[in-house]
Amino acid sequence: MRIIACKDYAEMSCAAANILAAQIYLKPQAVLGLATGSTPVGLYKELIAKHEAGVLSFAQVRTVNLDEYKGLAPTHDQSYRYFMQHNLFDHIDIRPENTNVPDGLAADAEAECGRYDALRETLGRTDIQLLGLGRNGHIGFNEPGPVFVKPTHVVDLTPSTIDANARFFASQADVPRQAITMGIGYIMQARQILVVASGSDKAEAVYQMICGAVDPQVPASILQLHPNVTLVADEAALSKAVEAGVSVCG
Ligand code: F6R
Repeated sequence: MRIIACKDYAEMSCAAANILAAQIYLKPQAVLGLATGSTPVGLYKELIAKHEAGVLSFAQVRTVNLDEYKGLAPTHDQSYRYFMQHNLFDHIDIRPENTNVPDGLAADAEAECGRYDALRETLGRTDIQLLGLGRNGHIGFNEPGPVFVKPTHVVDLTPSTIDANARFFASQADVPRQAITMGIGYIMQARQILVVASGSDKAEAVYQMICGAVDPQVPASILQLHPNVTLVADEAALSKAVEAGVSVCG
């Protein structure tokens, strides 16, 4: 795992955006696996800025998002489809039909999981998968559990995740209790994985991801087995790992 240490959130966003942009320069029709949450907002802003400066086009890019809350419409302001439109897609030249997010309103959620996995087969291998990191070590909404779940599946969100995400909703009771998430199988099939982490509340999860045992109780620990992972994190998120002697590049 290559670890890039950044001073703060702004520097992390810049460094991570440069890695994603480089992938698009190298392969304009790249398949990007995308994430939501607060961590990638800055890097999406950087990508928009590159597009507005005329140096980055998404015209041939295809995207596939990790997850969606079950029960939220795409127009709900906390749905992940809405997030992607407002934080990235509406500001770049991507074709709407080339963007994919699970359908949180699908009447048959299991069938939607099957559709999403079939779609992944059609798109081919993801060139670069962007991941944020949950405080409990989740990636996508693959929550801690007894096994790593490979396919797209419906997941019950843990109290830690509901608590962490309550900041985006009117109250904790409004946070959906379930989500549809890409499984560990497709995440691990990506050619390259880019993890972003910021803030001291991620320090334990970052440490466990890098230094802990590979254990489904810390889903991100599986990334130790992937041959091409880059973690871009700020000093606060890296604090515990650095204290434990992990070497990073600046
Ligand atoms: C979102 C996702 C989640 C988040 C994680 C961290 O698509 O897959 O795994 O990346 O919950 O969220 P933030 O960035 O808000 O701390």
